[in-house]
Amino acid sequence: MKILIVGSGGREHAIAMSVAKSSRAEKIYCAPGNAGIGQIAQCVPIGAMEFEKLAAFAKENAIDLTIIGMDDPLVGGIVDVFEAEGLRVFGPSRAAAILEGSKAFSKDLMKKYQIPTAAYETFDDPEKALAYLETAKMPIVLKADGLALGKGVLICNTLEEARDGVKEIMMDKKFGSAGNHMVIEEFMTGREVSVLSFVDGKTIKIMSSAQDHKRAKDGDQGLNTGGMGTFSPSPFYTKEVDEFCHKYIFQATVDAMAAEGRPFKGIIFFGLMLTEDGPKVLEYNARFGDPEAQVVLPRMKNDVIDVMEACIDGTLDQIDLQFEDNAAVCVVLASDGYPVSYEKGFEIQGLEKFEDSDGYYCFHAGTKLDENGKIVTNGGRVLGITAKGADLKEARANAYKATEWVEFENKYMRHDIGKAIDEA
Ligand code: AMP
Ligand code: GLY
Repeated sequence: MKILIVGSGGREHAIAMSVAKSSRAEKIYCAPGNAGIGQIAQCVPIGAMEFEKLAAFAKENAIDLTIIGMDDPLVGGIVDVFEAEGLRVFGPSRAAAILEGSKAFSKDLMKKYQIPTAAYETFDDPEKALAYLETAKMPIVLKADGLALGKGVLICNTLEEARDGVKEIMMDKKFGSAGNHMVIEEFMTGREVSVLSFVDGKTIKIMSSAQDHKRAKDGDQGLNTGGMGTFSPSPFYTKEVDEFCHKYIFQATVDAMAAEGRPFKGIIFFGLMLTEDGPKVLEYNARFGDPEAQVVLPRMKNDVIDVMEACIDGTLDQIDLQFEDNAAVCVVLASDGYPVSYEKGFEIQGLEKFEDSDGYYCFHAGTKLDENGKIVTNGGRVLGITAKGADLKEARANAYKATEWVEFENKYMRHDIGKAIDEA
């Protein structure tokens, strides 16, 4: 088969690696890709939002399956464009990707179908939002409705902060049109767990759990980032939690989408908080997490193409989804200064060490080939170093060992990825 992957980050590198393992994959393309993906796929210089160009490329090159990695094209309706051209594509339609694209939609869905989540109100008038805050309990959580690069969530400890937050989101439009509507919700406390799943419109199969570290600095300090590291599985995702989620959250979400006339096919990523009152949904995403994919996919035993095709064909009930009985940790190597400002263009050394090290992976996020054919840094998050181990402790030690194999100027990482698991 000929496969096209759309995206350019560490997640898409992890998807490409899984696809490359399949005996069914003859040729892999990635648009636009990056320097690491370019070692296993042919990179095509078309942007992820250039739907017509991507569909034309897929037709001209007789692509058998296109896999959409990123949220923006999904929410923008890339799957509908491909399907209208008769092309096979893995991911939710525009009508279904709204599960991630609008927080107001997803909150209303959960309320209507009694899926556990934080209490909330939605607003499209900033004056009404400000009036609501006067009697609300602090801390409180403000969320811009639309996609905001994972940054549209503000946790406010005081009324003053919350008033400023409403102004930033709805009046100053700090997150652009994502802030035309907003959700104000109850602040919850507890451990966070990410659960990714494959969905075929009616059946849902859960992948191994994971946990992200979103803050830039050790001890969960500093600014929110796209994710500084992950581990899988999460020891906090116990059998009891799993049973609860199966009963009240997973199938309920899939059935709710189908009942709304928006059958979901693709990946649903459940961002959960394990509260004192049981697990609650923090958010839904309509794609693999980044860097969750980098710890979940290397542990998946199935042929990823078989599973994705089953999602498209509605035959996921026939798939026995299996994961290795081990653990993985991913440590993100970033450019110092991320997520605010950082320099790019530094040569990366030591990458070849991963080529013959089983159970160790170097997923490229922000890298490119320079004019001399050298791989250089080209973003805030540069590489995701993943290692497996018999358990989380071993995986963590292995991942940190491998972070020393690569060098580039201004290399920055957190040193406590998965540390909480040692204390579990
Ligand atoms: P989201 O993009 O909705 O997942 O929000 C980003 C992050 O904000 C989450 O991973 C949580 O750490 C935090 N967060 C979101 N909603 C809440 C909430 N209701 N209570 C506490 N923390 C929250
Ligand atoms: N790592 C969180 C996300 O992909 O949204």
